Amino acid sequence: PRRPRVLSGIQPTADSFHLGNYLGALREWVRLQRTHETYYCVVDLHAITVEHDPELLRERTRRSAAQLLALGVDPEHGALFVQSQVPEHAQLSWVLECQTGFGEAGRMTQFKDKAAKQGTERASVGLFTYPVLQAADILLYQADAVPVGEDQRQHLELSRNLAQRFNNRFGRTFTVPEAHIPQDTAKIYDLQEPTAKMSKSASSVNGLIELLDDPKRSAKKIRSAVTDTGREIVYDPEGKPGVANLLTIYSALSGRSVADLEAAYAGKGYGDLKKDLAEVLIEFVTPVRERVRSYLDDVAELDKLLTRGAERAREIATATLATVYERVGF
Ligand code: ADP
Ligand code: NA
Repeated sequence: PRRPRVLSGIQPTADSFHLGNYLGALREWVRLQRTHETYYCVVDLHAITVEHDPELLRERTRRSAAQLLALGVDPEHGALFVQSQVPEHAQLSWVLECQTGFGEAGRMTQFKDKAAKQGTERASVGLFTYPVLQAADILLYQADAVPVGEDQRQHLELSRNLAQRFNNRFGRTFTVPEAHIPQDTAKIYDLQEPTAKMSKSASSVNGLIELLDDPKRSAKKIRSAVTDTGREIVYDPEGKPGVANLLTIYSALSGRSVADLEAAYAGKGYGDLKKDLAEVLIEFVTPVRERVRSYLDDVAELDKLLTRGAERAREIATATLATVYERVGF
């Protein structure tokens, strides 16, 4: 029997992934390779639902792929590919759009939030149908599992509903995907505002650790992270969110438990904790940056690797789409 299949994607909307992306999502992508057949994609179709610059998108798509490889995504394991290179995503999305209620799509809270920010006149129809494209991403590969954070639960529920609806109307076609709740991902907070999530769009420069940034600069950001006026190094997310965030990052990067770290820093000060964590961070990012640089030094080879990934993905995607087309009467 084959391993359960997992699908996940990440948008190429920044020059670098940040520590939250890694510790909250990408580290789990790498882990899942031990138990699952993994289909991972850089979702550039999703990235044009908002205004974008074409050259920057092309560059960020490559950089995203290079970072995934550098972090340990194995292209031979299942497939690592760029979404737009597998045209079946857009093709299946259209069929699924025709199975989605307008009101149903309108209830997606992420769309409502984003549209409220941009204004409904400016928000694109693509932003509205984004969750349906996401359903196509998943259903195309007959994925058994999808890693989801809180913010993606509603979208996965839509994918499940669409799979079931299609199966009921046209005959069994899609695997109904389950949420994979990672045991060991961490939510990372802004270093300057430790009650807000670290985010490429919302964090200030000093609140955000980018994996590809100069390690010395990142170390400095750790050393100037906001803590509190106390002295004790204990894990107390309510009372000491800044210290708790540093302990979370430290534990995730070093593999040491939080309890072990609390014991090790008993009687020491925040400065000691920050100094050591800064070193741990430098040790982690330095080889990652080097690997990214070497992938980006040979763009032709990287592109070839991604072309191969798209070919592997299409082996499954074309079969699913052929069944879908046949079922709907094409
Ligand atoms: P951002 O929030 O910076 O815009 P994305 O929305 O592109 O990042 O998120 C990509 C992935 O990284 C998602 O799986 C998301 O849950 C995860 N992620 C983003 N920020 C964090 C964070 N601060 N802590 C943990 N996981 C995060
Ligand atoms: Na986001």
